[in-house]
Amino acid sequence: MSINSPYATSLVSTTYVPDLESIEPGLDLVAEIQRLRTTRKAVILAHYYQEPEIQDLADFVGDSLQLSQQAAKTDAEVIAFCGVHFMAETAKILSPGKKVVIPDMDAGCSLADRCPADQFAEWLKQYPDHEVVSYINCSAGVKALSTIICTSSNAVRVVESIPQEKKLVFAPDRHLGKWVLKQTGRDMVLWPGFCIVHEQFTAKRIAALKAKHPEAKLIAHPECDATVSQMADFVGSTAALLNYVAKDPANAFIVATEAGILHQMRQRRPSVELIPAPADSGCNCSLCPYMKLNSLEKLYLALRDLRPEITLDEEVRLRALKPVERMLALG
Ligand code: 13P
Ligand code: SF4
Repeated sequence: MSINSPYATSLVSTTYVPDLESIEPGLDLVAEIQRLRTTRKAVILAHYYQEPEIQDLADFVGDSLQLSQQAAKTDAEVIAFCGVHFMAETAKILSPGKKVVIPDMDAGCSLADRCPADQFAEWLKQYPDHEVVSYINCSAGVKALSTIICTSSNAVRVVESIPQEKKLVFAPDRHLGKWVLKQTGRDMVLWPGFCIVHEQFTAKRIAALKAKHPEAKLIAHPECDATVSQMADFVGSTAALLNYVAKDPANAFIVATEAGILHQMRQRRPSVELIPAPADSGCNCSLCPYMKLNSLEKLYLALRDLRPEITLDEEVRLRALKPVERMLALG
């Protein structure tokens, strides 16, 4: 992570670079990670977008909501969080007494990065009488300015938990915000953020893919643009998409989310055809460059050296904790 990173204030060292050279050539990384997990009394949490070899090693693989629930209840002494920074930071918000390490501190998120807390605070001044619903993909500083947090799996329920007469701001994902607005009929002021992975899926490319695979069902994450979500047979969080594939009788699915989820889908339904939706520019793949910064080598180093570690200013942590707890209390 560069010194200009929006996370710089939460780092022990902004210059920490995983020392890959220090790994003995030929070391059995999987065996070493297994050994360190025990000696460090660590739990390895991994998001569905992690590389398959990390998912296979993890104690728990899940979506953002499931991972925050796991982080809140674990009795491990160390949480090795294989995901992106805001996820590991949420674990620290919930478990301040535990050491939280992340394999690569540069694993950010376009949504969190483009909603700096100071700019968000300034913007919120226009809406002093609004409740603030923030998607978990934001920094602790933004969480600390929020009424309640949501994830993609509970956003509708979270918004519905707020009395009808209250005015609402939703940040930082405009696409998830629009999707929730459509589901709930609640008017909300939206911060104009977006995910660089999901925004690359376009209705035009997907329509062409559907024409080639008329038997396939289209399933999409709510971070996609509305033109894509409207075409989908099902819209849901990564965990919801996984459950849909596990239970739906169709034998082919076009999957409009980060392709890491295909690993779990293949395990649940080895015989179905899974077609990753193509991005419309860049590498043409649907991989999150931040999620993919983590690797087995870096996970090994994180467990060996207990670095890089997530740290938080206690005042910010306590303010961020309240809206996260409000969300978790909804179940
Ligand atoms: P989930 O809530 O589905 O885990 O999504 C997190 C995320 O970063 C999606 O891009
Ligand atoms: Fe952030 Fe998008 Fe990557 Fe998810 S896929 S971590 S929202 S950049």
